[in-house]
Amino acid sequence: MSVLNVSGKSAIALLITMAAVDRFNLLYREISRSCSVYIEALAIVGAWYTVRKCLTLVFNTYSMIRLHALPKLVGEIDIVKRYGRWAVVTGSTDGIGKAYAEELAKRGVNIILISRSKEKLEAVSRSISETYKVETDFIVADFRLFYTYPDYFTNLSEDMLWDMINVNIASANMMVHIVLPGMVEKRKGAIVNVSSASCCQPTPMLTIYGASKAYLDYFSRALYYEYASKGIFVQSLTPFVIATKMVSCSRVTSKRSFFFPSAEEYASHAISTLGLSKRTPGYWKHSIEFTLGERLPEWIWAWFAQYFCRIIRKEALTHKAK
Ligand SMILES: NC(=O)c1ccc[n+]([C@@H]2O[C@H](COP(=O)([O-])OP(=O)(O)OC[C@H]3O[C@@H](n4cnc5c(N)ncnc54)[C@H](OP(=O)(O)O)[C@@H]3O)[C@@H](O)[C@H]2O)c1
Repeated sequence: MSVLNVSGKSAIALLITMAAVDRFNLLYREISRSCSVYIEALAIVGAWYTVRKCLTLVFNTYSMIRLHALPKLVGEIDIVKRYGRWAVVTGSTDGIGKAYAEELAKRGVNIILISRSKEKLEAVSRSISETYKVETDFIVADFRLFYTYPDYFTNLSEDMLWDMINVNIASANMMVHIVLPGMVEKRKGAIVNVSSASCCQPTPMLTIYGASKAYLDYFSRALYYEYASKGIFVQSLTPFVIATKMVSCSRVTSKRSFFFPSAEEYASHAISTLGLSKRTPGYWKHSIEFTLGERLPEWIWAWFAQYFCRIIRKEALTHKAK
């Protein structure tokens, strides 16, 4: 009835609109009919992507629980039985190396300590053998280096570059080359290389350190596949910051906090992943950070890394100037 009451002008306008709507509906129906194959294909791609992401999430959660919670609940593997009675630990008079050596000794493993200072080696060697009633021995060797603080590549001396390459990369190769044949003969043994989370993505201002750790990570992972069938377990540890002497250039990193565990705390977690994961940060909070870090676009990772390194550098330089 209301149509009868409208003026001639508005009736025409109404008809035009209806025709336009009709034409649009027709057009839409035509397009959807010809596109239905593409829409279905897109739906399949979307479903496949969602399923993949869900499976990855489930798998990552399961790996985290298996690696960081189950060993604590179910009980750990017998390291002596599985890998042998002796372990060689480098950089073992302080930080991660010392804490890791103590964790091994706690489990009945005899330790050969390697570090640069004879006095400290004697003291740590005596303390471990008395505390854990295991045999210990030591070798004095100059092994590894770290920048005193993050810095620009051009600020590093030529000597520092050569030392970092030779010591961080060459010494790891040589150590493994010395110990591996004996393990292969016995068909058992474990090699743990402490790489770093800086190998996760390119880390500016830790350029050469990060690159040498990426080498170590690659080396360990390739070695794992080469020797797994011969009964040797090779593990690459990729931790983020651990509050040790190495990172004491900053007040933030040198103090134990939620994301920066002490060496002892770190080693007790890391050792329970031995035999379970060929590549892990070794500490559950660092595992979360690493998983996120790997998924970040490279430029975001690099931006954050550079921001963080600049702060540490500034702090270290201010401290040095005092
Ligand atoms: N701390 C971290 O945030 C962190 C993160 C990722 C990876 N890492 C890696 O973990 C490893 C251990 O680091 P850390 O934090 O435990 O270091 P640390 O506390 O500074 O030192 C650990 C040990 O290395 C020895 N050492 C230092 N320079 C040496 C040299 N030139 N030759 C032989 N031994 C030497 C030290 O001996 P002295 O007692 O004589 O100094 C000490 O026994 C390093 O490879 C490092 O790159 C550390």
